[in-house]
Amino acid sequence: RLAYVNHAFVPLDKAAVHVEDRGFQFADGIYEVCAVLNGQLLDWPLHLDRWTRNLSALLIPAPMSAAALTLVARRLIALNGYKDALLYIQVTRGAARRDHPIPADAQPTLVMTVRRFDFAARVPQQAVGVKVTSVTDQRWGRCDIKTVALLPNVLAKQTARLAGSFEAWFVSNDGVVAEGGSTNAWIVDAAGTVITHPLSARILPGIMRASLLRLAHAAQIKVEERPFTLAEAQGAAEAFLTSTTAPCLGIVEIDGVKVGSGKPGPVTRRLGELLWAEIE
Ligand code: PDD
Repeated sequence: RLAYVNHAFVPLDKAAVHVEDRGFQFADGIYEVCAVLNGQLLDWPLHLDRWTRNLSALLIPAPMSAAALTLVARRLIALNGYKDALLYIQVTRGAARRDHPIPADAQPTLVMTVRRFDFAARVPQQAVGVKVTSVTDQRWGRCDIKTVALLPNVLAKQTARLAGSFEAWFVSNDGVVAEGGSTNAWIVDAAGTVITHPLSARILPGIMRASLLRLAHAAQIKVEERPFTLAEAQGAAEAFLTSTTAPCLGIVEIDGVKVGSGKPGPVTRRLGELLWAEIE
């Protein structure tokens, strides 16, 4: 396997960054995860937009143009010979003597890796659905920026895993479900309306979230972008989650409470089919 590190393609086991890289010491960086299907990058322009917005939010200069990044990404995928894969891109502020304020002369570190990912393996999971465990949302106030500071997400997902759940849901003190540890959160009410948290600093603007909203509108499925509570989700007709790595996955249990029929519901399945039809 090859990786791309600071302007060179290198074997993954030889790929390295400086020990004083600020990504390592301060989580001073951002990342993107993009699906590769049949050798093609899925929703690449949307990932590029988010990458650019995140860099400017952190005041990190772009390590290369969007066009150059696209060439490098495509080359890395081709060199590894993967058809279905996940592309990981990380940009940190770079290496500098440890000191909190932004160093004047740091050169951003760009790392790109790709790994095989079998999207078809999600299909059986899709039929059965997954469980979710709620955790208190203790994250910072800018969850809309895709930074590598993922410790709350790591701990939340570990709590979920120990509880036998696929995902953790971040719930604030007022009971509102913001999103999952690495996914956006959705419910469907008894009338078939699809509900998800509006874009705000409380959630990551997921690319799959945007795709799903677009498909729902096109299929004339009613959608409300508004906050919903954990109790509302537990009493909902359906619930599901979306992300690059789990495009539209039904949720059948939240904190031990069965959701709807206890199987992925009809609206979830329909949206999943619309998504797959577009992807394939
Ligand atoms: N996670 N919310 C959070 C907190 C996320 O980390 C992610 C993505 C999403 C969904 O975004 P998208 O649809 O663009 O994948 C929502 C990636 C996949 C990860 O950290 O692995």
